[in-house]
Amino acid sequence: MEGATRTSPLHSRILSLFGDMAAHSSPIDAEFYLAADTFFPAQGATALTYDDVTLATLFSDVLPRDTNLETTLHDRIRLPLPIVSADMDTVTEARMAIAMARNGGLGLVHANVPERQQLSEVSRVKNHVHGLIQEPIKVSPDHSIGDVLELIEEKGYSFRTFPVVDAEEKLLGLLPGHVVRPRYAAIRIVDAMTPRAQVQTVLQNELGDDPIARADRFFSERVGIHKLLVVDKNDRLRGLFTISDIERILAERSSHTLKPARDEKFRLLCGAALSATRNAAGELDRDRILGHVTALVDRGVDAVAVSTAHGFSRGVGDAVTLIRSEFKELPIIAGNVTSAAGVEYLADAGANIIKVGQGPGSICTTRVVAGVGVPQLTALYVSARAAAPKGVRILADGGVTKSGDIVKALTLAHGVICGGLLAGCPEAPGQILEIDGKLYKQYRGMGSLAAMQAGSAARYGHVAKDTTRKVAAEGVEALKEAGPPVDTVLLQLAGGVQSGLGYLGARSLTELRENARYIRVTPAGQRESAPHDIIEVKAGT
Ligand code: XMP
Repeated sequence: MEGATRTSPLHSRILSLFGDMAAHSSPIDAEFYLAADTFFPAQGATALTYDDVTLATLFSDVLPRDTNLETTLHDRIRLPLPIVSADMDTVTEARMAIAMARNGGLGLVHANVPERQQLSEVSRVKNHVHGLIQEPIKVSPDHSIGDVLELIEEKGYSFRTFPVVDAEEKLLGLLPGHVVRPRYAAIRIVDAMTPRAQVQTVLQNELGDDPIARADRFFSERVGIHKLLVVDKNDRLRGLFTISDIERILAERSSHTLKPARDEKFRLLCGAALSATRNAAGELDRDRILGHVTALVDRGVDAVAVSTAHGFSRGVGDAVTLIRSEFKELPIIAGNVTSAAGVEYLADAGANIIKVGQGPGSICTTRVVAGVGVPQLTALYVSARAAAPKGVRILADGGVTKSGDIVKALTLAHGVICGGLLAGCPEAPGQILEIDGKLYKQYRGMGSLAAMQAGSAARYGHVAKDTTRKVAAEGVEALKEAGPPVDTVLLQLAGGVQSGLGYLGARSLTELRENARYIRVTPAGQRESAPHDIIEVKAGT
């Protein structure tokens, strides 16, 4: 009795959970719905992917909205949402990486551009302050109001208030919208602007942990002021908040449940890809690789990804070892592999997070062209078994087409990488194309000829300038229907994953991995699993 009175609330919850599970489980179910360690080995030499299996439901007292999707990929990479955007040139640049991290995930900025450009994309993510217009349109004091009117006309700006700066970006004043009229066209900006002393500003380093709340307070306290300029200690313009942006963001915040993924300095998390580049002699280009990583780290990158199609290879292992030897604490992602030995090789080389997937991607042709690769769920199981004793995490990379796939992947992996699911979002790089009245965005494999010519050849073990020989493409160039913004897509995916956890009585991803019970699905079962025998009038996603 004495012991019972000392039971902690957590202890009681665990006891009652086991009690509930024992009370609500049956040996009959246990014969059919198998745990991973029984289910996968029992498939013999047959490899399975997401649609080949389904997860059995379990007794649950967990509501989807009470589930927690947080995952730890590394001590320094804790994500509220276990979704990573692919390091592909039609998926992740700064805009996508910002949107991913704002919603709790992680973006891997692709490396298919000159290094300088990739570095500036990473800087944009690490310096991003939500709601802050980082590069406001400025005017110079010597121009006339007529010049400003022409600029508005030419660029189609919907605003008429402009900060006035000198050649060094030092703030000189603010040109208020009410003077930007044709009748004042001949007047010089310097004679019409509100002078610096009367312009309200805030110092960049005084924005604090919650710049939106800071700006909101400012606008409430200063009735009638609709713009807040941000300056650095030398009074150089560093950004601009507008009251309308702040009000929109606060309205969104109250209805938005996904928490951002941030570093210890409250900046958004950001990863970046690099290739295991070789020099003219065919050896690993050590100087170039280390120079690239050093520059990324200087920009504040949180993880580097050595991304190749064949990660279980000398070049990738050596590149990881090289980076690890110089950057002891840096989270290193490496891949791709589909075998236990591949996971062990990269873990021993010093990688912390291993990408698993060869050929499952929606734009991949590796399995068709090279005849290799393993259907994704079996690859994940095999890799997960090898990863656990090595203390590394795995990411399920490619082939995710719906939230149910993510739930299945997360029963074995600590996160998923998505390309196609995000490529239609406005935040993905590339223009919208209109074809027969429908809107599309380009989406291409990094092993497609076009992407390899643009620089990704090393990722597929080819040389970009090799014009004498036609390299074999392992990816296609495609289109995705233009879709909703990343906020909406991730909210829907997170909702689906939370439902999955609810069905399995899991409050967290750890409980999901423990609770998962699998059973195979036949082609008839797959047909039954999706809407059927109806005329669909509205898609369910
Ligand atoms: P999804 O299915 O999300 O897949 O569109 C994205 C993942 O596919 C991989 N990838 C490729 N694989 N040839 C391949 O075999 C390619 O050209 C290619 N491009 C990307 C990559 O792992 C990505 O994250």
